Amino acid sequence: MTGKTIIVSNRLPVKIQEKEGVYHSSASEGGLATGLGSVYQNGDNVWIGWPGTEIVPEKQQEIIGQLHELSLLPVFLSQQEISEYYEGFSNEVLWPIFHYYASTYSNYRQSNWEFYQQVNQKFADAVLSVAKPGDTIWVHDYQLMLVPALVREKLPDVSIGFFLHIPFPSFELFHLIPWRNELLQGLLGADLVGFHTFDDVQHFTHSCARLLNVNLSANIISLSDRLVVAEAFPMGIDEQKYASLATSDQVKSEIKQLKSSLNGARIVLSVDRLDYSKGILQRLLAFEELLRKYPEFIGKVVLYMIVVPSRDTVPQYKHLRDEIDKRVGNINSLFRTINWSPVHYFYRSFPIETLSALYACADVALVTPMRDGMNLVSKEYVASRTDNTGVLILSEMAGSSRELIDAMIVNPNNTVMMAETIKQALEMPVEKQQSRMVKLRKNVSKFNVTHWVKIFMERLREVKELQQSLHTRYISEVTVKAIYKIYAKTCRRIFFLDYDGTLVGFNADPKKASPDEGLYRILQDLAADPSNTVVLISGRDYQTLENWFGHIPVTLIADHGAWQKLNGTWESMPSLDDQWKKTVYPVLETFSDRTPGSFIEEKTYSLVWHYRNVGTGLGELRAGELINNLHYITSNQGLQILPGNKVIEIKNIEVNKGRAVSAMLHQSQYDFALAIGDDHTDEDTFKAMPDNSVTIKVGSSSSAAKYYLNDVNEVRGLLQGFAKAVVVND
Ligand code: UDP
Ligand code: G6P
Repeated sequence: MTGKTIIVSNRLPVKIQEKEGVYHSSASEGGLATGLGSVYQNGDNVWIGWPGTEIVPEKQQEIIGQLHELSLLPVFLSQQEISEYYEGFSNEVLWPIFHYYASTYSNYRQSNWEFYQQVNQKFADAVLSVAKPGDTIWVHDYQLMLVPALVREKLPDVSIGFFLHIPFPSFELFHLIPWRNELLQGLLGADLVGFHTFDDVQHFTHSCARLLNVNLSANIISLSDRLVVAEAFPMGIDEQKYASLATSDQVKSEIKQLKSSLNGARIVLSVDRLDYSKGILQRLLAFEELLRKYPEFIGKVVLYMIVVPSRDTVPQYKHLRDEIDKRVGNINSLFRTINWSPVHYFYRSFPIETLSALYACADVALVTPMRDGMNLVSKEYVASRTDNTGVLILSEMAGSSRELIDAMIVNPNNTVMMAETIKQALEMPVEKQQSRMVKLRKNVSKFNVTHWVKIFMERLREVKELQQSLHTRYISEVTVKAIYKIYAKTCRRIFFLDYDGTLVGFNADPKKASPDEGLYRILQDLAADPSNTVVLISGRDYQTLENWFGHIPVTLIADHGAWQKLNGTWESMPSLDDQWKKTVYPVLETFSDRTPGSFIEEKTYSLVWHYRNVGTGLGELRAGELINNLHYITSNQGLQILPGNKVIEIKNIEVNKGRAVSAMLHQSQYDFALAIGDDHTDEDTFKAMPDNSVTIKVGSSSSAAKYYLNDVNEVRGLLQGFAKAVVVND
């Protein structure tokens, strides 16, 4: 990429703290800052974010100067913005919902949402103050979900990536948020939306399909002007840094000190920010269970528990801190001996050298979040185990568990299982530890943070290229004239014309969208030239096409290609199965019963659920639900689910307009080929057309077609012109 990269996140990788009127900076905590911190300082790159505290206006210029040296650009937030946007909306609405703590912890206040919008605008303005055409903007995390669209509004062509560092919840949870559509629309301002896991990608794309009127094809979301790709990019760490730290002199001396302070007790380590999503209380329960059930560990093992202060102005975090204090106190008072304490609890952050010494010393790392986007601590532990010993116990709810499959995987809700697993880990023979750790280290080393940045950026560039290849131009008068000129010089021409949305407008009752006199005249004029083959290629059933067009000299392709009228008789594609209808029909029926105004259309090889007459919102919602249901039912049945214009069509995978078009093009040689269509199914037609053909999409500028027209009237105007074109140019 040519320009610079602008990273945008709520928090900068350094935080500013004020002590007695003097501002100091130190490293920020949390996976985002620690993970990306080592890669952003390159060339002109800049990182935009909040410096972590309120800075009085008279000091802001000085801070800007200090941070400029580090290629950082601060966004200053007032106390009220911090409390409403950061604490209120980001951490009391989004964080709990996205971590599946919906009912207990989410708190929807309109003013929090207003501040969220306002502060997102503030970040977008900061981006716009430094962004130039050709730059790449990479926005991070749930605090800034509106920024991509706000930047896109002002810089329509710029490359924007977004990465969510926390899980994306299932639709059931996500749709609880009153402003869910706005959040999705904000994200869709990006070209590439990245997540840690494939589950997150699916949850996001399903929510888009269900809540917004967008077409979804696997992980590609088609908007009217652009497509957006959603994909999983599991984040890695700077593993070299941890591996070399572990063998550095400073760390070695810390290890020595640590070991001597523990009198030979073995270490079970846990490191987290203070957060209810981290499962800290549940972990304490499991450790207590271990000591209760297996008293032989008393005096022999300690739980070294580091909790890094975080968001302690949010009530749930304060409460959690009190609970942890109580539970640690309980365990220690129950099991403590004169010279041994079971839980060594630290509520503070540590320099990376101390952390590295702990990772290097710990016999077992206990990483058991209730839900975590990725969890970098688990990877840092692995990277620090340069002698390949040590055991990682990892929650199946952490994103990292999808990659670190050689860890001992546990369910953090299962106290008994966790206690048993800690016992097994402590008793695991060294060879077994090593055989697991070697594989874990290989993974952490290969998929490191540099790799993560590289593949994200590469994909972003590819998406941009893909968008450009799909970017159609409005068909200008000059182009139309050129097309007519070529038309006039050719003598074997073929026209593939879609019907609904292309030749006629939509009607609430599809039966009423019948051809009018004007259309008949246009088609007849076109077909009257013996050099022209006019093909109507539609998703309609063949009986309808026969009724409407059986009497005029055009070729008819119905049911997306399942039926064709060649040489005067209708023929269906050979050996197609329609048995699947027996399972799918009842599902459509259930949806029709639940959704007033919707109905089912049955065609030979497809079923269609229409919702044009359903109230706006409900129709889209049900359509999304239906797609979800159908995905489960139709997997492995050779079916495709096609969301169209207020319809969902389910049909055999073998049937598509592209195949029918290819077949016709192979039957004869043509020197002029033109295709016009308006929806998803016509994309197959466009793709099947030869390079030198004219392909036109109706109503959108993102398509495999070369050009676009705005509506049916423009299509008719273009077609009418062909009859005159020959006369003029002769
Ligand atoms: N960490 C830190 N200081 C500490 C303890 C931990 O900076 O005293 C770092 C830790 O090394 C890790 C990050 O905080 O890189 C936590 O990231 P993780 O993905 O595990 O959880 P998150 O905080 O993002 O939820
Ligand atoms: C998680 C989030 C980050 C956040 C970090 C620390 O890693 O994904 O966006 O920066 O926690 O939280 P804080 O609220 O202190 O920024």
